[in-house]
Amino acid sequence: MGEHLSRTIAEGRAFMQLVGGQKVDSLTGQRIDVVCPSDGKVFASIPASGEGDVDLAVRAARRAFDEGPWARMPAVERGRLLTKLGLLVEKNATELAALESRDTGKPVRQGRADVNATKRYYEFYGGAADKIHGDTIPFLDGYTALTLREPHGVVAGIIPWNYPLQILARVAGAALAMGNTLVVKPAEDASLSTIRIAELALEAGFPQGVFNVVTGYGRDAGAALSAHPLVDYVTFTGSPATGAAIQKAAAGNNRGVTMELGGKSPQIVFADADIDLALPVLVNAIIQNGGQTCSAGSRVLVERAVYEDVANGLAERFSELVAGAHDADLDLGALINPRQRQRVAAMVSDAEDAGCEILARGSIHADAPEGGFYYEPALIAAKDPKLAIAQEEVFGPVLILLAFDDEADALQIANGTEYGLVAGIWTRDGARQHRVAKRVRAGQIFVNAYGAGGGIELPFGGFRKSGHGREKGFEALYDMSATKTIVFNHG
Ligand code: NAI
Ligand code: MG
Repeated sequence: MGEHLSRTIAEGRAFMQLVGGQKVDSLTGQRIDVVCPSDGKVFASIPASGEGDVDLAVRAARRAFDEGPWARMPAVERGRLLTKLGLLVEKNATELAALESRDTGKPVRQGRADVNATKRYYEFYGGAADKIHGDTIPFLDGYTALTLREPHGVVAGIIPWNYPLQILARVAGAALAMGNTLVVKPAEDASLSTIRIAELALEAGFPQGVFNVVTGYGRDAGAALSAHPLVDYVTFTGSPATGAAIQKAAAGNNRGVTMELGGKSPQIVFADADIDLALPVLVNAIIQNGGQTCSAGSRVLVERAVYEDVANGLAERFSELVAGAHDADLDLGALINPRQRQRVAAMVSDAEDAGCEILARGSIHADAPEGGFYYEPALIAAKDPKLAIAQEEVFGPVLILLAFDDEADALQIANGTEYGLVAGIWTRDGARQHRVAKRVRAGQIFVNAYGAGGGIELPFGGFRKSGHGREKGFEALYDMSATKTIVFNHG
């Protein structure tokens, strides 16, 4: 049933955005075609909003924050609304998974996993809303000093297309738990699940204007939102270049930002590792969502003594990988759009020109529809860790293999890119596990495991070009609020 639904869902629908609790079209009257990456066909449309629409949405969020019932609602009540939204996500799980997989081309199985994580985010932040509090501070005689945790106000969330449901949930969960109001601009390539979640938020009973969605292109709606003077805080997940543009726009108003800008995350395999345990995890960490994952384990660093074994094991698995339509539920789906496919193909052919060897390729299923944006997974041996293919985020099903001599060499290669989001360490040596985990520059480290996707409780974010600020877990609640210090002189 889910599979059939994922092929037909939302067929022909002209979606509306949500502003001030109303479903509205854009003032521009323009629309963006919604395309399924599995076959490249248009199946619905969304409003192509501009500055005027963004202004209406920000003003609605501003009013809801300044004047609405939201501002004075007890934390436990905000938490209950989030918990209710989580229950509605669960109730509509089949539809949401089908919608997400048709819109993004991801296998339905991945859509279902995304829905489960989404439900968990709203559940987690629903429970957390009334469990975060300030301090009392020992101070001068005759005084009492305390802190309150205050929301920023209007939070703007600019969301990418790779995991729209999950990334929206981590932003909205934390922002709303702390009492902010929200204006979300989902990616032009994948806005449908965000629209549905905002509709479910209305059904859950969030007051009007608390949860607004404006759809449109990044250069129009996205740019207007990040520069809007009535926005108090901006959170973004996406490319470093767009992140820099958004930070400049927010700097025009001196507003705070959270930036999650992807990575080139290493998995370090030492000679004493349990290779059989590692191999399937190494493959999954790059193949999940077709490699279009900020936390993808896109570089595997292997100690020379076991390099051949690991390379052969990975090559065997890579040659068996099959890409196909989202509802065929194979190892991976199509990439999001022709531009992304072209970008991945160009990076791989540049690597070949630079002398890198392709050790194995997966395939595209014979039944995969014509017109889909498929790319055969590739396992590439990169002789030089300084080559672009080993330095830059590919955001496709492309795994880079590198050899290292010893622990110091491994650390140098692991820390030798501009990114620092996630790392995996594979070794049975307990002292080395601790030592390497401390010395690798990344926001999340997994030892004999890998995977950030499910861990909604775990703080997540990067160093350097991977961004700044932390999302997920309890930590996100601090980013989505600020302390206010109050001092009483009582003599
Ligand atoms: P992007 O970073 O340009 O798009 C992400 C979001 O930003 C979308 O909602 C888009 O509409 C918005 N946006 C674009 N330009 C904007 C602007 N000037 N002001 C405000 N918002 C704007 O990413 P794109 O071009 O779709 O993908 C290019 C590369 O970015 C990928 O190959 C990948 O390497 C990286 N990327 C990383 C993601 C991550 O999860 N860290 C997610 C998506 C892309
Ligand atoms: Mg789409």
